[in-house]
Amino acid sequence: MLVPDLPLRTDRLLLRAFTAGDLAALTAYRSRPDVTRFLYHDPYDDAAARAALDRLRRRTALRAPGDGLNLAIVLPETGEVAGDVLLIWTSADHRQGEIGYVLHPDHAGRGYATEAARELLRLGFEGLGLHRIVGRLDARNTASARVLERLGMRREAHLRENEFVKGEWTDELVYALLDREWRAGPARV
Ligand SMILES: CC(C)(COP(=O)(O)OP(=O)(O)OC[C@H]1O[C@@H](n2cnc3c(N)ncnc32)[C@H](O)[C@@H]1OP(=O)(O)O)[C@@H](O)C(=O)NCCC(=O)NCCS
Repeated sequence: MLVPDLPLRTDRLLLRAFTAGDLAALTAYRSRPDVTRFLYHDPYDDAAARAALDRLRRRTALRAPGDGLNLAIVLPETGEVAGDVLLIWTSADHRQGEIGYVLHPDHAGRGYATEAARELLRLGFEGLGLHRIVGRLDARNTASARVLERLGMRREAHLRENEFVKGEWTDELVYALLDREWRAGPARV
């Protein structure tokens, strides 16, 4: 179980729980087709954004396997929400987790997704005691693959047409990192 002491701070970012005031910020990027292209959901309309925010606001701790921790990536100087980051506790028996991240395109290209995801790897390995954390993505999502590679994660699988998403069969890549690799490796910084 992990109830993180929020907000988390990194060199350049604040990672905090979502609040009711984040509706416009969340909608600003998750309503964009270029952002949701390789996500499971369609661009949010107002109702979808409200429903998502209600859910995100509740996901602030990992109390049982299956739980997800969703945090807003915030620029401390302005308070602007640059995106969001996710850690899912997928299995207690096998001590497994999964990370994810989404940025507003205005804030891409600066390493914020990598910096935020690294903090959730730290939380997963050092706070929750996970043994292995994965990142899963559409094989065409090269920007996301670069994030996982910058984190030192290993490309372990290329699954051919294993999911049917948005009307088409899609390939999935699986990246992973083990706890001993985290302790030893460049991902930790
Ligand atoms: C995936 C996604 C978060 C990647 O965003 P990103 O801005 O490329 O990733 P980062 O924030 O880690 O920034 C890395 C880029 O900034 C550059 N950069 C600049 N300063 C940097 C720094 N201090 N540290 C690290 N990278 C830095 C890197 O060179 C890199 O650019 P490159 O990939 O062209 O070499 C973004 O494309 C996105 O939100 N996509 C839509 C949602 C999505 O698909 N999410 C993933 C689902 S699996």
